[in-house]
Amino acid sequence: MNRALKASLIAALCMVAMIYSVHAQKKESSAVSKKISPDLFGLFFEDINYSADGGLYAELVQNRSFEYNPAERREWHPLSYWEYITPGFSYGKISVETTKPVHPNNPHYINLNIEFVGNYPEFKGVAGVGIKNSGFDFMPVRVGEKYNFSMYAQQRSEEPVSLIISLQTPKGVVLAEEKLSTNSTDWKKYATGLTATASSDSASLVILAVTKGKLAMDVISLFPEKTFKNRANGLRTDLAQALADMKPRFIRFPGGCLVHGDGLGNMYRWKNTIGPIEQRVEQRNIWGYHQTVGLGYYEYFQFCEDIGAKPLPVLPAAVSCQNSGGTWRIGGTGQRALPLDEMDEYIQEILDLIEWANGPVTSVWGAKRAAAGHPAPFNLQYVGIGNEDKITPEFEERFQMIYNVVKAKHPEITVIGTSGPFPDGEDFEKGWKYADHHHIPVVDEHYYKEPDWMMKNLHRYDTYDRSKSKVYLGEYASWGNKMKNAISEAAYMIGLERNGDVVSMASYAPLFAKKDHTQWKTDMIFFDNTNLCLTPNYYVQRMFSANQGDVYFDKVIFKDASDSTLAASCVQDSKTGDVILKLVNAGSKAGIMKVDLSGFQKIISTAEQEILTGVADAENTLEHPQRIVPVKSAFKAIKNFQYETKPMSLTVIRIKTKS
Ligand code: AHR
Repeated sequence: MNRALKASLIAALCMVAMIYSVHAQKKESSAVSKKISPDLFGLFFEDINYSADGGLYAELVQNRSFEYNPAERREWHPLSYWEYITPGFSYGKISVETTKPVHPNNPHYINLNIEFVGNYPEFKGVAGVGIKNSGFDFMPVRVGEKYNFSMYAQQRSEEPVSLIISLQTPKGVVLAEEKLSTNSTDWKKYATGLTATASSDSASLVILAVTKGKLAMDVISLFPEKTFKNRANGLRTDLAQALADMKPRFIRFPGGCLVHGDGLGNMYRWKNTIGPIEQRVEQRNIWGYHQTVGLGYYEYFQFCEDIGAKPLPVLPAAVSCQNSGGTWRIGGTGQRALPLDEMDEYIQEILDLIEWANGPVTSVWGAKRAAAGHPAPFNLQYVGIGNEDKITPEFEERFQMIYNVVKAKHPEITVIGTSGPFPDGEDFEKGWKYADHHHIPVVDEHYYKEPDWMMKNLHRYDTYDRSKSKVYLGEYASWGNKMKNAISEAAYMIGLERNGDVVSMASYAPLFAKKDHTQWKTDMIFFDNTNLCLTPNYYVQRMFSANQGDVYFDKVIFKDASDSTLAASCVQDSKTGDVILKLVNAGSKAGIMKVDLSGFQKIISTAEQEILTGVADAENTLEHPQRIVPVKSAFKAIKNFQYETKPMSLTVIRIKTKS
């Protein structure tokens, strides 16, 4: 019997068993219930499309540590995004050095030699020798708000060097200004706050030495004081809030292909991303730019905690991306595997992560977490190993070595395996066969498809074998950000909820895309330095994610069985008692659904509905972000009612059962 047929039979038997064993609360209704995953809908954050540096990570200076280099982009070098300035006919020298850095992990810094500070009466500005950084397409600055400047400097002359730190418009209008003077011949951190006297979307940071002397500088940083939850080294408030509003149950991070990297040297190694920012190991991003890793593991875990989401770090399965070395999307010949004699050390790195996240402050790695400001454990529960890797013998051998040790030492951790980049085909089959054989608890599936495919596959998980590994649909999207894409995803998510007993988790991908810096065209949230565009896809995700349940009810919502454009689900959140109906109409005309809530002992008539609707080709843009937005209104709930869904719509009705 082939896998699919066997799966269908088992699924059918399970369904029958479920239907007869678990009845909804009342006999007058035919509704049947089953428990579904309490962690079904979450987020996947990958540092792609400038999602981290220049995006969610609120740092305003680009190339703050002078670590940009031509291996990342041919035209890049340590002074990229910096301008050497000598106003007032001043002169001096700037050089990039590596001999005595702030920290060996952060080798490049600049040396500024201020030889002459202009003193010509006809020059009306401030004369000096310095540097200017225009951030990620300039820096947005708001009147009255404070920006925290810091840098490491080492005075290399006998006399102190006086500096003026300012924020300026492109025309040189000063928006904020403070003075500093060096006082140490060792590397020392200097900091000051700059409060803006006017707003600008195109500010630059200017550091001007106004006295003769020599100094080295590195890790030059500017953060808005207002970050999400006011965290130091924190996140951009509007982007972080958009994620918090989704009430995701988990966040998978930091990728994606970013995790397994472009070759072994490019794998994402979590230990490089914790500790003081000047000690982190910056590296090339597989998506063609630079990662400061200022948004590192500590910040990811803290953000998860701040928004009540479970952290789901993904670690490389000791193999690099199969598309490494320029073999992108041609079938995976570039996978490289860590030598077997390095595996013990690599596995220890994974165990150390678990200790760092969950261990007591008295443990080696728990102490590092505490030193960073978080003595309480982070309650890590899930760990992903591998990202859509090519399922080769080298992969299997290394995955197994990691899995065996984690399972033995940390039975409390759920390990998530992987099954290639597509919903079928060689790696998918091999990945699942491997997972079945080795009883891997959860398998990560990925696919990006047309809306049509979504609509044709609404029942994909109905036939998955309930006795085998659970599914984490770690990456999925229909290709596009139009209403028709979002609604096809909504219909698909109904299928995920209906199968929430075998689909444990799901997350749309990718999450963020910065204007003019996008590598992946279909994304959930588009942004520039000051605005964000929440796509219809975002609203669909938010409406599902903020309205999750842990019990699924069948036979509550009825529709014309022959109409494949309609889909619906009913779940209950057992904590609040709220019953949540989700009704999707992916067609071009209104669709009637009948709702029978007689299985619920009590429902409160004052309910709320939220409707997202629009024409199939409508979409939001940064210029017009409000074309499609969900609208909330009061709804009068009764036990039996008919509901007319609008064409191309998602409706969520939330009904209280407890006063
Ligand atoms: O989400 C974008 C990319 O798609 C991810 O990095 C990768 O896992 C998948 O191929």
